[in-house]
Amino acid sequence: MNSIGKKIIRLESVDSTNNYAANVIRNGKAEHGTVILAVEQYAGKGQRNAQWLAAPGENLTFSLIWDEVNLSVDQQFDITRFISLAMVELLRRYAIDVEIKWPNDILFEGKKIAGILIENQIQGMLIRRSVIGIGLNVNQNHFDGLNAISMALIKGRKYVTDDVLFSFCEVLNHMTKDGRSIPLGLQESYLNKLYCLNREAVYQTSSGVEFNGIITGVDRNGRLEVDNNGEIVAYDLKDIRFISQNS
Ligand code: BTN
Repeated sequence: MNSIGKKIIRLESVDSTNNYAANVIRNGKAEHGTVILAVEQYAGKGQRNAQWLAAPGENLTFSLIWDEVNLSVDQQFDITRFISLAMVELLRRYAIDVEIKWPNDILFEGKKIAGILIENQIQGMLIRRSVIGIGLNVNQNHFDGLNAISMALIKGRKYVTDDVLFSFCEVLNHMTKDGRSIPLGLQESYLNKLYCLNREAVYQTSSGVEFNGIITGVDRNGRLEVDNNGEIVAYDLKDIRFISQNS
């Protein structure tokens, strides 16, 4: 077996698998490809300091330790692209066709099925290690008003979460060939799956201004390029928020 998923640390309950992974690394025990899997997270972390909520035992909440990333800091988005596309491929294997909402939300028909939180450890100008946190809605049936969906809701059947995790590791091992080198050059595939590309939608800037914009692309640093009234502006994650799709 290739290195990703060779070692799985199973936890009943933890604050966040990303935090646990960071501790494993701090203690000098990080082995590339180790997966930390939790039945329950009581302080699961999402992007933009949000919480990640998942019904205990029904979904996949795990983090993957990626050692020796050895990409420069301005290549951070290559990791995001790769992991997002790995999720797309995983779900394609279950006949579920998803899109990527920039930068790395995984959506099925506009509803969130998975979220990704990548936390990098940087040394000088190099990304040394990454903790890749994934929350995938597998068997949960109710989301209490959240715009979310699960594999089970889409397909009308339950899945064995371990099987889905093993498939994901297989996808990563396959996409990297050696289970280690982050594949580059995935920009075209990423854009092909980008939610709202070339479609008008409503966005909000960090100063609270709403505008109708059209995503035209993502630059090499991973900034979202939006046509804002005829001017193409590149936004960082903290600078723009998607509000709604225009019908
Ligand atoms: C998001 O879409 O906001 C990102 C969600 C990431 C959630 C996963 S669950 C496993 C890992 N541990 C965390 O605390 N967060 C990530």
